Amino acid sequence: MKLNGTYVPVPDKSMTHRALIMSAMACGRSTIANPLTCFDCDSTIHALRLLGAEIDELDGRINVVSNGYKSFAVAPDIGNNPLVLPCGNSGTTARLIAGALAPRNINVKISGDDSLNLRPMTRIIEPLIKMGANIVSTEDNGRLPIEIRPSKMHNLQYSSEVPSAQVKSAFLLAALQTEGVSTYVEQIRSRDHTERMLPLYGVSVSSSGEKLVVNGPCDMRPADFLVPGDASAAATIIVAAHMFEESRLNVNDVGLNPTRTEFLSILQQWGAELEVNVTTDKSATEPIGCVRVLNEHKLTGGLIAGASSQRAIDELPLLAMLGLFTREPVEIRQAGELKYKESNRIHSTVFNLRAIGAEVAEFDDGLIVYPLFGKEPNINARLNNFNDHRIAMMNVILAKRFGLQMPRVNSLAVSYPNFVADLEKLII
Ligand code: S3P
Repeated sequence: MKLNGTYVPVPDKSMTHRALIMSAMACGRSTIANPLTCFDCDSTIHALRLLGAEIDELDGRINVVSNGYKSFAVAPDIGNNPLVLPCGNSGTTARLIAGALAPRNINVKISGDDSLNLRPMTRIIEPLIKMGANIVSTEDNGRLPIEIRPSKMHNLQYSSEVPSAQVKSAFLLAALQTEGVSTYVEQIRSRDHTERMLPLYGVSVSSSGEKLVVNGPCDMRPADFLVPGDASAAATIIVAAHMFEESRLNVNDVGLNPTRTEFLSILQQWGAELEVNVTTDKSATEPIGCVRVLNEHKLTGGLIAGASSQRAIDELPLLAMLGLFTREPVEIRQAGELKYKESNRIHSTVFNLRAIGAEVAEFDDGLIVYPLFGKEPNINARLNNFNDHRIAMMNVILAKRFGLQMPRVNSLAVSYPNFVADLEKLII
């Protein structure tokens, strides 16, 4: 069995969320071409509609008509109760919308499903409170639900301890609405879609090194945005290609933003033969291109740590899984952030790889996966997706590769409803 053919990834999830939120914050009519359709993005659409934006989907495009962020208001019939914005499973929806709403002088409650309600929110609450927001975690546990109450916010110079694009984005979406110069410094640059896209919507964001500067308040203008293919979806297929011998793949129309392609650099360091070409011009908001994959020989494997762990955060479980087939073990360290994703992805990965009989060591900040070296996997393994879409995709790949019973795939609807069919089309 091998993977062969041309693959076009589903549209990027991070960028679809951002395009929806920025379009609703802008005054006028925006369009989003090639948006991702999935539960997570539906959560963002639903929340923005509750805030008054008109959002229509037609012929693979989304049109957003809005009176801008200043019009975000609580519906009159809600009286003294906060408007509840249910964000489902989507951390990006909850955190970015919290940033966009904190300065609006309104009363909203942001909630999530059982998994999202377990994820840390102090990381966004703290900087927003430092800007003068009135936000409380209603259970007083630093998690959702959070309630945003009326307040007057101000600009802030902030240096983040948490390497997170969602925290940075929440900060920037709030800062652009407050008077004066705000700055945000991060230790390691996280995915930079927000600062790349904001200028398209009329908000100038300057940067020097790891410091971002916004001078508010800014009016936001409508824009047309084309969503590239999702680099993380591409990573799933590219890693799968390296688990099936002699795979050959062309991955087209994929986002190649350097803050998202650390997994490609890691694979190349491990000896992968990848040809990566950016086909958009330099002025494009987001670089798009293609990746040619030839799986001619075994990859070396090795250690992923430090900045590399942060940059490849969503792809680390996949790279860990690849450790079953590398020459040396794959060791992932300084990746404690994995514990705070849709599931504890250190534990979820360890659980499933152990279930198929692999030798795996689990740590608080990562894991080591030892190669199978021809050892027969346990074909009766019962894989668990831990209600986590990225773990569900890995389990599908494990099931196909080792001929296991197909695992539950309900979580795939969160980000990639057609994943199984897309993977099956490539397997020959
Ligand atoms: C995302 C940022 C990352 C990533 C998540 C999407 C985003 O989370 O894991 O899947 O769209 O900004 P953190 O910001 O918590 O690292």
